[in-house]
This record gives sequence, C-alpha cells and structure tokens, in this order.
Amino acid sequence: MVKHLFVLPPLLLVLLFISITEVAEGTKKSYGVYNNNNVKLFVFGDSYVDTGNFLDSPSYKAPYGITFPGKPAGRFSDGRVLTDYIASYLKIETPTPYSLRNSSNLQYGINFAQGGTGVFQTLTNGPNMTLQIDSFEQLIQQKVYTKQDLDSSVALIGASGNDYTAFIVNNKSITEIKSFTTTLINQLSINIQRIHNLGINKVAIGLLEPIGCLPQITVVTFHLGCVDLLNLVSENHNKELLQTVQQLNQQAGKSVYVTLDIYNAFLSTIETMKRNHEENSTLMNPLELCCAGDGFKNKCGNVDDNGEKKYSLCENPELSFFWDYVHPSQNGWYNVYTLLQPSLGQLIG
Ligand SMILES: *[C@@H]1O[C@H](CO)[C@@H](O)[C@H](O)[C@H]1NC(C)=O
Ligand SMILES: *[C@@H]1O[C@H](CO)[C@@H](O)[C@H](O)[C@H]1NC(C)=O
Ligand SMILES: *[C@@H]1O[C@H](CO)[C@@H](O)[C@H](O)[C@H]1NC(C)=O
Ligand SMILES: *[C@@H]1O[C@H](CO)[C@@H](O)[C@H](O)[C@H]1NC(C)=O
Repeated sequence: MVKHLFVLPPLLLVLLFISITEVAEGTKKSYGVYNNNNVKLFVFGDSYVDTGNFLDSPSYKAPYGITFPGKPAGRFSDGRVLTDYIASYLKIETPTPYSLRNSSNLQYGINFAQGGTGVFQTLTNGPNMTLQIDSFEQLIQQKVYTKQDLDSSVALIGASGNDYTAFIVNNKSITEIKSFTTTLINQLSINIQRIHNLGINKVAIGLLEPIGCLPQITVVTFHLGCVDLLNLVSENHNKELLQTVQQLNQQAGKSVYVTLDIYNAFLSTIETMKRNHEENSTLMNPLELCCAGDGFKNKCGNVDDNGEKKYSLCENPELSFFWDYVHPSQNGWYNVYTLLQPSLGQLIG
C-alpha cells in the first residue's frame, strides 16, 4: 500500500486538507424506546462534530448554516452535523459548545470539538484532543458533572484526518505514513481510555472517512471518482483502530468502546447517490461540492473587500452530499447517520 503512494503527485497530497486554514446504563428497555433524560453527550474532535466552538472561522460566516439553523452558527455545514443527529438519537438536545457554555446550558453535556483539531497539534491557535479532554477533566474537578451524571453519559469522538493533513503539509515522507498511523492510533487509544477513566461508560469513536472521496481530492478526477490510493490510508487507519478498540473492550470485559463506521457509510451513500444521479441528472453528483469558491484561491464563504461573494452555491443543498471541499452537507450527514443508526443501539445499554 505504501509503495503505491509513491506515485501520487505532490499537489494531490497538499490538497488533502481538512479545515486547518479555515479551518447508559439504566434500566434495560427494548431498543428504540429507551429514554433517559439523564443522558449527556460529551464530544471531542474536529469540524465533523464541532457545533460552534470555532468562533473566528468560516463556520460563523454566511452561507454556513443556511439550512439549519438558518444563519451561520458555527457548524461546518449548511445545517446539522453528526453530533446533532446522535444527540437526537439519544433524545436530548445538541450539547452546548464549550466556547458558549454558561451556568444554565450544561444539562445535555458539552461539545469540546473544534474545527481543525487533531489528535496531535494541528492548529497553531487551537486545542489538540488532549487539551479538549483536559477541559472536560476540569469541569469534573469543579463538580459541574457528578459521577452519576457521567455514568449515564455517552462520549463521541470524531477525528477526521487533520493529523494526516498536517503530516503531509509538514513535508513528511509518504513512506512514513504507515508508522504515523500506528503512532496516531496509540495516542487516540490513550485519549479514549482517559475519557472512560474519567467516568464515561460508552465511548463512540468515528472511523476515518474515505479521504480519497473528499472534493478537495476529487478535483483531480473532475469529481468523477474517488482516489482509491488515498482511501487505502483510511482503510489502514480503520483496521488499526478496530483492532485497538477490540483489545480495549476485551481488557475492560465489556463493550465500553463502540466504533461508528463512517467509512462505509460515506461510501455507500456516495454510491447510491451516484446511481441516482446517473438515472436522473437533476440530482447532484455526490462528489461535487455545493458551496465552491470562485477560482482556486477562494473558498466557500469568501467575500472580497467590497463584500462581494467569491463563491457560488448549488441550486439545492438538500440534494448534495458535500457542502464544501471537505465537509458533508446536512443531507450528507443525514444519510450517513441513517446508515450508522443500527450501531448506535450499543450506546444506550
Ligand atoms: C446561556 O446560554 C444560552 C444559550 O446556550 C442562552 O440562551 C442563555 O440566555 C444563557 N444564560 C445565561 C445565564 O447567560
Ligand atoms: C497537546 O497540546 C499541549 C499544549 O499545547 C501539549 O503540551 C501536548 O503535548 C499536546 N499533546 C499531543 C498529544 O500532541
Ligand atoms: C516543503 O517542501 C517544499 C518544496 O521542497 C518547500 O518549498 C516548503 O518550504 C517545505 N515546507 C515545509 C513546511 O517544510
Ligand atoms: C428527478 O429528480 C427531481 C428532484 O428530486 C425530481 O423532481 C424529478 O421528478 C426526478 N425526475 C425523474 C424523471 O424521476
């Protein structure tokens, strides 16, 4: 696999870019009717799960948020992201972003995730995942959340590839990517164990999406197909993560850690939408982004000095899979969530 990666043009590698520069256990009830108002959701990671922590970012500028909540509100999408759907699955409201917390909005948990975050340091002015967990630990020390609160809580971890982007931007040799994955999974393993040791008994970890399908990458195929060689990086990452999670659950003697197969959920949604598009050209090619910058320099949300938009929007965001160069639209996330739903049952005991 690593051998194949030699042939990738450098441009392609630099394009691998994920919003850096913008960048319960309770009484057992039958599946689906479980409703525990005590459940809280704690979220760690990057833009795929951030719901408003990155105050000084495009996620707080138009046209982000046009579908939901109808104005820019800090999500890297036109609307809802995975966190919103998982919260709704748990029958709670979306937890408050850490940056917006106050004394009276903590009841559904906290979202510590911020766009651009990596497991390692990927942002110059932002937290890495360790720091997000430090913030969580501080709230526990301050007794904002009790042991009982945490007992019935769920954690969601979304790390969608910023570490790989940073790895490549820093001119690391692509031949080292496999050992980098091992280092990355080791740190991720430390992180998820720490979250469990702080008292959370259900920890959901997203697998890495097929990075070779992101519009930023598929520009080289004119959005006609995914770049399979890059998807192999995701596959190897996921294989190592699944092995680690299996070992950790064995050690724990129970299923604390649950993986969410975002990889296959992306791929099957894209395949289905692609077939539909081939049959009905009114429907969008799922590899095309809805909000694209004019020319190579501009990104979704850019305006010039006169406030003129330097981006264009697709006619109907509801028909897209991708919103911008790296992030799914609400419709994309909804479809992915639908495919993840069967595995979410494990989170509610
Ligand atoms: C806390 O934040 C919520 C929004 O999450 C807001 O509606 C509420 O007014 C704030 N309360 C205080 C006491 O600042
Ligand atoms: C996370 O950030 C902190 C503070 O910058 C740093 O001390 C720590 O080494 C970083 N952790 C990782 C795993 O990169
Ligand atoms: C990466 O390599 C390119 C070309 O060799 C060089 O121009 C650039 O400054 C390097 N970037 C870093 C972060 O080292
Ligand atoms: C194609 O899709 C559009 C948008 O959903 C729909 O309105 C239209 O009826 C479809 N056309 C055919 C021939 O199915």
